[in-house]
Amino acid sequence: MERTFIAIKPDGVQRGLISEIISRFERKGFKLVAIKLVVPSKSFAQKHYHDLKERPFFNGLCNFLSFGPVLAMVWEGEGVIRYGRKLIGATDPSKSEPGTIRGDLAVVVGRNIIHGSDGPETAKDEINLWFKPDELTNYTCNQEKWVYGVN
Ligand code: GTP
Ligand code: MG
Repeated sequence: MERTFIAIKPDGVQRGLISEIISRFERKGFKLVAIKLVVPSKSFAQKHYHDLKERPFFNGLCNFLSFGPVLAMVWEGEGVIRYGRKLIGATDPSKSEPGTIRGDLAVVVGRNIIHGSDGPETAKDEINLWFKPDELTNYTCNQEKWVYGVN
C-alpha cells in the first residue's frame, strides 16, 4: 500500500495543532504507520529540502525546521501521497482553500505548519531519510475493511 511522509513543522507543534492535524488524516481513513518527535540538525534540514537549495528562502527555511521539534510521520493508504497534499492545501496559506489544513490553520507561506511528500519518489526518499526500516510498522487496522470494503 502507498505511503507518504508527513511532518508537522515547529510552528504547528508549538501552536498545539498536532491532534487537529493527525485527526484529519485519521478521519479520512488513512493509517499511521510511524511517528516520532525530532529536532533535526540544520544539515539534516538541508538534506530534506535539498531540491530548494537555490531558492532565496532556503537558509531561513532550514534554520526554521531545525528549531524543532518536528513531528515526523508516515501515513499509509490508497492515493495517500496525492490526497495528503490535498488535505494539506496550497503551499501559500493565503491561497489555500478553506477546509484544507493550511487554509484553515495558517496565514503565511514561511509558517505553513505542515510538510507532505510531493510524489512517489520523494515519498520514498523522505521516509528513508527520516525513519529507519524498523521504525515503520506493519499491522492490520480493523477499520480497513470498512474503509476499503474488502471483507
Ligand atoms: P512542503 O510540503 O513543506 O515541501 O511544501 P510545498 O511542497 O507545498 O512547497 P515547496 O516544496 O515548494 O516549498 C517548501 C517550503 O518552503 C514551503 O512549505 C514553505 O514553508 C517554504 N516556501 C516555499 N515558498 C516560499 C516563499 O516564497 N517564501 C518563503 N519564506 N518560504 C517559502
Ligand atoms: Mg515540497
